[in-house]
Amino acid sequence: MTSLETRDLLGLEGACPDTIREILARARSLRTACRGDELAGRVVANLFFEDSTRTRCSFEVAATRLGAHVLNLGSRGSSASKGESLVDTARNIEAMGVDALVVRTAASGGAALVADACTTPVINAGDGRHEHPTQALLDAFVLEERLGGLQGRRVAIVGDILNSRVARSNVHGLIALGAHVTLVGPPALLDGSFRGLVPEAVADQLAIAHDIDSVLEEADAVMMLRIQRERASSDLIATDYRRLYGMTAERAARLSGDQVLLHPGPVNRGVEMDGVVLDSNPHVVVLEQVAAGTWVRAAVLLRAIGV
Ligand code: NCD
Repeated sequence: MTSLETRDLLGLEGACPDTIREILARARSLRTACRGDELAGRVVANLFFEDSTRTRCSFEVAATRLGAHVLNLGSRGSSASKGESLVDTARNIEAMGVDALVVRTAASGGAALVADACTTPVINAGDGRHEHPTQALLDAFVLEERLGGLQGRRVAIVGDILNSRVARSNVHGLIALGAHVTLVGPPALLDGSFRGLVPEAVADQLAIAHDIDSVLEEADAVMMLRIQRERASSDLIATDYRRLYGMTAERAARLSGDQVLLHPGPVNRGVEMDGVVLDSNPHVVVLEQVAAGTWVRAAVLLRAIGV
């Protein structure tokens, strides 16, 4: 049984395509017809032990739109600063009778540790380098809308692949939905071991490249990633990263037709993407991703809580 068949959502590795499609369909129907009382009387606990703007607020907006009460806990202002562990914190919040635990942690595998220790459904909101399933689901939501489906589509994911939970979850999600993924990055941040990320049966859907210019025109979508400095990757990149791998204004000008340019945020302007590209390139869908995220997370919350 994969994590998606339980009420927890720990990752997209091994996910059943139909389950992903159900979540995306539910998100679409919520966007047009959300009653506002689906989770009335329920409590969603946001346990965010790593910094976040979009994901934390998006879960809060999603839960609020469904009528739930949201409890927000971070490492500052909680007893985590006194040395209490993530699992102990989660078990204490669970004992208060909350209906779902949304967990972000710097520890890869941290969400699964919480899920093992708790009977309350756990949603992984990003655990270290491991997975960030709701980000990949919202990316799939936008890509399906923009491209009319993912079967046979080509998606390039560019940047700090080594440290990216967004890249890992997207590889699993996009490949499950029939897309072909090319991971692109400097050799220090992307080595051949990434071929082992997916089972042999779908290995032809995953490629590795080190030259962004060789994949730019053929990709239906390009997803730019931030250098994860908090995971010490700044030591591994060349100072000319922008010139070699960045979505500069010159590169972005080569995009055409219905090609889509994504970024999960936060963007480091002038590093992986020029500010002018973010602000005014017509292929950029960054704020569409953010908007979709609230409905995708609403669908994930309803599924977790069993409503
Ligand atoms: C990503 C994350 O936290 O993994 N951001 C997000 O959730 N929107 C990507 C990043 O931090 O670079």
